[in-house]
Amino acid sequence: MSINPVRWQDIGFDGSPYYVHPISPDPDGNGMFVGRDAELARLKSQLRNTTLHPCIEGESGVGKTSLVAVAGYQLQKEFVRGVEVAPFALVRNPFQLTPETTSREFTSSVIRELAHAFNDHRHRIDSQRNPFPSVGELEAWVSRPVQSDDFQSVVRSWLSRAFPSNLGGGFICVLDNLELVRTSARARQVLEEMRDDALALPGVRWVLCGAKGVVEHGTSSSRLEGRLATPMKLRPLGMEKMPLLINRRISVFRRSTDAIAPVQEEGFSFLYKRLGHNLRAALNYAENFSVEMLVRNQVFADREKMFKLLKVWVGGQAREKIDVLSGHVSEGHWAILREAKRLEPERIYANMYLSFGFATAAKFRQYLRDLEAAALVTRASHEGDQRYNAYTITPKGALCLHELPGGAALD
Ligand SMILES: Nc1ncnc2c1ncn2[C@@H]1O[C@H](COP(=O)(O)OP(=O)(O)OP(=O)(O)O)[C@@H](O)[C@H]1O
Ligand SMILES: [Mg+2]
Repeated sequence: MSINPVRWQDIGFDGSPYYVHPISPDPDGNGMFVGRDAELARLKSQLRNTTLHPCIEGESGVGKTSLVAVAGYQLQKEFVRGVEVAPFALVRNPFQLTPETTSREFTSSVIRELAHAFNDHRHRIDSQRNPFPSVGELEAWVSRPVQSDDFQSVVRSWLSRAFPSNLGGGFICVLDNLELVRTSARARQVLEEMRDDALALPGVRWVLCGAKGVVEHGTSSSRLEGRLATPMKLRPLGMEKMPLLINRRISVFRRSTDAIAPVQEEGFSFLYKRLGHNLRAALNYAENFSVEMLVRNQVFADREKMFKLLKVWVGGQAREKIDVLSGHVSEGHWAILREAKRLEPERIYANMYLSFGFATAAKFRQYLRDLEAAALVTRASHEGDQRYNAYTITPKGALCLHELPGGAALD
């Protein structure tokens, strides 16, 4: 028997309103972006009024990449409308580093992207006031090898010509997921190497984003002073923003006014809370639930019924995860998570072993490592000094904890 799963289009949507990718720098993305007024204003102001490269620190899935995309999009738009005097242009693909990336390789890849960015943005930026290279000039260079030193100096000269003043706008480039270099010590080392290279390119405004304390600690170097702004900490959006957030998404993707979204305000707020206020996880679960309901042909107009189905499904998901972990995670491990829920902030350090009922730090650390291996907590590295590693509960940890006996009482 062949099953023909129902598609989003069959229930009146252009696609999934719960897609988990960062918000894109376009009108739809701008429309779906909710809250963050203060952070948006601060980021745009840093880009307009200082020559420092802004830095954003925040947990995975909190909305860092989306914030930069929307800030870049708005600055671009405002320039076109004449509200913003300096021409800003967002380089679409974020850059990333790995522990092995060298400053030289990194600069080469940036130069190549910038040559494309000149091409992408030439139609928007007034070539009289900001002379951009001609199409012929661009085509001649873009096909050349990356390593060519001439190519680098040509792109540098284009940058200086197009953005002659330090506060005269520039290409906004995102150095994203800085935690991929693993330790803040390595992040600091690479950034120091980049200081007089990629971070000093004329007309390039970097925004550095990362999780797990890497931005916060990696940027605190006296050599980087005067180059990087004090990191902005992005906290999870408040619960009160969830109804608007999900309704905006539903309205962007809905084709007909009577289309029914499987997860609505109450369902999405429930998921966000149950998953420890992690936006990406809440969207991910909403999407998985929806697909399941689409396949089962169980998308009903009755909102209460859908919400009940969601709660049952979430409980099942949590129990499945707990079962899988049963061989590796004991009651003692769960007790640590339960205790951590009572902390404000919910952050565990290895030197708290006595208050968690452990006789030695070594034993406590072993338990924390087990929890990390089970993806129930995540660790923010602090210079390899284990005493200062902060562990936080993951969305999976929050979900499982709630399902275990006494979990509901922790809310
Ligand atoms: N202010 C917002 N309004 C609406 N949706 C948002 C907002 N911020 C983020 N999102 C959505 O939340 C999800 C996570 O956002 P994003 O990818 O920007 O997070 P991140 O902090 O960059 O995560 P990571 O550390 O994993 O890279 C995405 O699906 C994005 O569309
Ligand atoms: Mg991101």
